[in-house]
Amino acid sequence: MFHLGWFTNPIPHGWTPSGRDVWAGNDVLPDTWATGEFLVDMAKSLERAGFDYIMLEDHVVLGDDESHFEPRLDPIPVAAVIAAATSRLGIVSTMSTSFYHPFQLARSTTTIDHLSRGRSGWNMVTSTEDRGARAFGQDGQPAHDERYDRADDFLDIVEKLWAGWDEDALVIQDEGGRYVDATKVHSGPIEGKYNSSYSPLNVPRGPQGRPVLCQAGSSPRGRDFAAKHADTVIATTFGLNSVSALKEFRDDLRERMVKFGRNPDDCKVLFLITPTVGETEEEALEADRRLNDPTPAIIDQTLSRLSFHTEHDWGQYDLDQPLPELDVESMTEGYQGMARAFLALGHPGDTLREIIGRHRTGSLDLVGTPAQVAQKMGEVIDEIGGDGFLIQRRPLTRRYITEICEGLVPELQKRGLVRSSYEFPTFRENLLAF
Ligand SMILES: Cc1cc2nc3c(=O)[nH]c(=O)nc-3n(C[C@H](O)[C@H](O)[C@H](O)COP(=O)(O)O)c2cc1C
Repeated sequence: MFHLGWFTNPIPHGWTPSGRDVWAGNDVLPDTWATGEFLVDMAKSLERAGFDYIMLEDHVVLGDDESHFEPRLDPIPVAAVIAAATSRLGIVSTMSTSFYHPFQLARSTTTIDHLSRGRSGWNMVTSTEDRGARAFGQDGQPAHDERYDRADDFLDIVEKLWAGWDEDALVIQDEGGRYVDATKVHSGPIEGKYNSSYSPLNVPRGPQGRPVLCQAGSSPRGRDFAAKHADTVIATTFGLNSVSALKEFRDDLRERMVKFGRNPDDCKVLFLITPTVGETEEEALEADRRLNDPTPAIIDQTLSRLSFHTEHDWGQYDLDQPLPELDVESMTEGYQGMARAFLALGHPGDTLREIIGRHRTGSLDLVGTPAQVAQKMGEVIDEIGGDGFLIQRRPLTRRYITEICEGLVPELQKRGLVRSSYEFPTFRENLLAF
């Protein structure tokens, strides 16, 4: 059996640079999306299909220029609304170790853990955007590896805050009006190199003790950070379509976990995929072509996202000339993993246009009928050795969610590859169940 998650953006999904999506539905349109109803409906569909979690990504800046402005909701209140409408699905919110204070983060994620009865998760991002740093009153972002050093320090503090309440600290005795056994709530200063706090949290320990920790960075330093802390890692090779590259990634992460004294089975690596399913293989191939054909709109979108995330202007290169050799570490303090993966799609002499033609958000080509795609997913996981997939698709529509949850997932369930019902009440228990 393997695990399923879904990576989604709390954005107006019905709007795309090429126009409104006819399958979007009214509550995904630019004027109505911010009620969150679409995300709540989506979460209910994922829960019915037995997904481990919904991952709510986040960035705090609007976009590089007006044509790429993309508004989004704060994931924490969205997680609270989803928690109220579901009962088993894990809910992962993205929050930055560079922008938030550890006390605020520990308090919010624990509150969500209570509201969801043990289904809170946190996607630990270090964030790359200087403009995001300015929004939080900072001068700019530190360099790539230093951000991870700061994140390690941040984690030491939030872990102490989460551990500040013993499991049996609440006594709740009517007689004498005693609520908390103060000897079981640990009080005192917590000093880190970059941050400090003071224990305890004023929220009692959540049902999971600490939220499920999710991580997405894939540079060597990012992998070490994940290996030290994460319960689940989300990764992609951006269209490389190589199962051995996925196996290598997972094996590498597991080795790093052993180095940090952890059991590698305690972290589930989920690879980003965008399966395209159709009633026939031809129909699916045609839908895939429509989604990925490098039209001027797709090229513009790819260059813009790549430039935004890697903080490097990819628009400076001629689309039809061979891309010059680029050294990732000296080129960007942004998403180095993404830059490396993009360059890995090219062969010497390839033009930028050719490389963009191969670029995908997901890791593998999965196109066909639900039965064909389910079969392939099972084979891929056998070859990699385990864990699972994270679905992502833009534009995201009700139609696509239905194709996956009501078309592909039943085929996976029929083969015994994914769960048909949840075994446990909490997110971490279900994630670690196999
Ligand atoms: C699948 C995936 C999802 C990510 N989601 C977010 C996100 O929601 N917010 C964010 O600030 N960074 C996000 N990131 C960026 C990573 O957290 C990390 O900062 C980035 O990959 C740079 O680190 P690296 O150089 O170690 O790869 C994501 C990365 C990947 C691959």
